Amino acid sequence: MVYVGAEADVQTIAVATDAQGHGWGRVLLDVLIEDARSCGCAQLMLEVRADNEPAIALYAHAGFEVISTRRSYYGPGEDAVIMRLRPIPKMLVPAS
Ligand SMILES: CC(C)(COP(=O)(O)OP(=O)(O)OC[C@H]1O[C@@H](n2cnc3c(N)ncnc32)[C@H](O)[C@@H]1OP(=O)(O)O)[C@@H](O)C(=O)NCCC(=O)NCCS
Repeated sequence: MVYVGAEADVQTIAVATDAQGHGWGRVLLDVLIEDARSCGCAQLMLEVRADNEPAIALYAHAGFEVISTRRSYYGPGEDAVIMRLRPIPKMLVPAS
């Protein structure tokens, strides 16, 4: 995670392939959300490949909204979706 002023940016979240689908991604994301909130951030941002349906679903379930698309952000024809969580809710996990 990167912090810039009142904004935090999720760089990446990853769960080992054989451990996916068991709630660990949401646990990791909740910890990052709570960390951003406890640091006083007003919003949490991230970019994700437009075809990464599991990640987009994870973020959407946590309350992130799609605010824009960046064409060919990852290379020709590989778009990025920009998502934002604002305001940052209080999560039921301890801050790191
Ligand atoms: C994205 C990632 C972190 C999710 O981790 P995970 O532990 O599998 O996710 P969880 O089990 O916590 O699932 C949480 C939510 O994510 C979504 N999700 C997870 N896997 C999904 C899949 N295969 N298809 C659709 N939605 C999925 C669902 O909304 C799910 O909530 P639900 O179970 O209530 O439906 C994992 O797939 C991963 O590491 N992917 C490779 C790295 C990556 O793409 N990271 C994101 C880069 S920005």
